[in-house]
Amino acid sequence: VEATPEWAAEIKRLARERGATILAHNYQLPAIQDVADHVGDSLALSRIAAEAPEDTIVFCGVHFMAETAKILSPSKTVLIPDERAGCSLADSINAEQLREWKADNPNALVVSYVNTTAEVKGLTDICCTSSNAVDVVNSIDPDREVLFLPDQFLGAHVKRVTGRTNMQIWAGECHVHAGINGDELTAKSKSHPDAELFVHPECGCATSALYLAGEGAVPADKVKILSTGGMLDAARVTKSKQVLVATEIGMLHQLRKAAPDVDFQAVNDRASCPYMKMITPAALLRCLLEGKDEVHVDLEMAKRAQKSVQRMIEIGN
Ligand code: 13P
Ligand code: SF4
Repeated sequence: VEATPEWAAEIKRLARERGATILAHNYQLPAIQDVADHVGDSLALSRIAAEAPEDTIVFCGVHFMAETAKILSPSKTVLIPDERAGCSLADSINAEQLREWKADNPNALVVSYVNTTAEVKGLTDICCTSSNAVDVVNSIDPDREVLFLPDQFLGAHVKRVTGRTNMQIWAGECHVHAGINGDELTAKSKSHPDAELFVHPECGCATSALYLAGEGAVPADKVKILSTGGMLDAARVTKSKQVLVATEIGMLHQLRKAAPDVDFQAVNDRASCPYMKMITPAALLRCLLEGKDEVHVDLEMAKRAQKSVQRMIEIGN
């Protein structure tokens, strides 16, 4: 199946027929982004899913995102074009491990990144995404111990920005972002001295980006640690002619659309998420034709997870 204009028209027709809205994450293939009703980062898509008037949500993203939509709207039908689209970061902690961690720290408050399973969310006090992680941690009583999971690089970033010392961080990582390393970033920014740097906090290189700024290799105001939604906001107002982007490469499509005159370049052009890319034009077509794969979350588990996700969508902009 090719992503032709006929394919796009058929997708739109089938979605209308099903009363479905199509949501796509910023890391999806360009053709999927272009056919979707809404494109955004994980926080924006969660909010849209929660408020969508349609009874069916087709989530073009990875499984935990579709699951989050289902947790927020248990009565809606939530479809994902390929349920095998997982996430290496969400796999880096399971419910049993979190139960043990909590048992060792009975008074701590648990903050989980949205990249987690429904079961882990059910053991969580507040969820966050990369857009509002700092606001979420700042909303917590400064005397309360925090357990932050599962991403160590996002955790380190939040700790740095909030200055919080009573915060333990799980040692998980996303294999795509962890693979964007500091050496590549250093080499790329040295060979493009006038370029601005947009770095996703899940990157292994987030720390070295700040180090570079501290060393004077890149002026501090040129380095921005941003969620994918934050990158788009920054792209719309940047005065730079060139921006180096450290995140999954699907992001370049929306950035180029948002600021066509800016030259956006990937720090690592092999940083492609194999899970995000499982959502192909053929998979989306099959999904709309057959109503598959449907996402189910056990109702009791959804209820437990809902409070933490609800708090996530209420905090930050
Ligand atoms: P955001 O869309 O919140 O920036 O998250 C990026 C990500 O890796 C989701 O898988
Ligand atoms: Fe998960 Fe990383 Fe892929 Fe995002 S880019 S879905 S965090 S594996």
